[in-house]
Amino acid sequence: MDRYLVFGHPVRHSKSPFIHTLFARQTQQELEYGLAEPAVDEFAQALRTFFDQGGKGCNVTVPFKEQAFTLVDCLSPRAKRAGAVNTIKLTDDGVLLGDNTDGAGLVADLKSHGVTLADSRILLLGAGGAARGALAPLLAELPSELVVTNRTHAKAQQLAAEFCDLGPVTAQTYEQLAGPFDLVINSTSASLQGALPPLAPALIHTDIAIYDMMYGASDTAFISWAKQHGARQTMDGLGMLVEQAAEAFTVWRGIRPGTKQVLRELKRNLGVI
Ligand code: ATR
Repeated sequence: MDRYLVFGHPVRHSKSPFIHTLFARQTQQELEYGLAEPAVDEFAQALRTFFDQGGKGCNVTVPFKEQAFTLVDCLSPRAKRAGAVNTIKLTDDGVLLGDNTDGAGLVADLKSHGVTLADSRILLLGAGGAARGALAPLLAELPSELVVTNRTHAKAQQLAAEFCDLGPVTAQTYEQLAGPFDLVINSTSASLQGALPPLAPALIHTDIAIYDMMYGASDTAFISWAKQHGARQTMDGLGMLVEQAAEAFTVWRGIRPGTKQVLRELKRNLGVI
């Protein structure tokens, strides 16, 4: 049977096996999908061993995405732009192709929630790996403006400079931000510590859409905060997780699984509904 897995550390909590097993059942593909948690300095060897032993493809998650970028034979344009690889496919020619489906997953999830990206003013919080992966796919949707803001301003400036050939992206400090924005995307890891990015509450209004790439069984700190300040449309990153997986599955198998039912089952599994 064709074998796939996700590399991460820690990875025991990963929902990828659950999601891909449902995709496989739905599309009647015969495959198995497991977990691998190599020591941080043993990822390269573990990856090689997996493919030497007949593995067909894998996902890569924290903290290995940047390392995976350096280990594959060939990069998709979107992986090159993202500077990170979250999906690897062994091609029929024996080439390890590195791809990045995170940004596409974000955009697909925003669209599935009915968020309009064309001509919109988007504010992206954070300038780490998650922000980098999101920038090109967001700019491809032709927003009128995309502002990147980050606690460490130099990193936002660096990202804006790197992506300004693709669209109207600028860097501003949290203090400089002037609304109204149509969409705020939180790509910071602040919610992991239950912390909040230092965003002025005045930027939140009733018609704004709020997206947090993080997710949990209950609202993230950022989503709770935005709701308190009047945001009516809030979304967490669970849909992005399922959409990036669907995109990876499509890369591997050439068939696109439906995501709605799988997202519903995942929510049930997490106790969200
Ligand atoms: P990831 O790969 O998930 O993006 P990362 O590359 O470590 O992770 O980036 C984390 C991002 O969250 C950074 O933009 C970080 O800001 P700094 O560059 O200033 O470190 C941001 N971040 C983390 N904790 C934060 C907090 N409490 N408030 C605001 N931003 C925070």
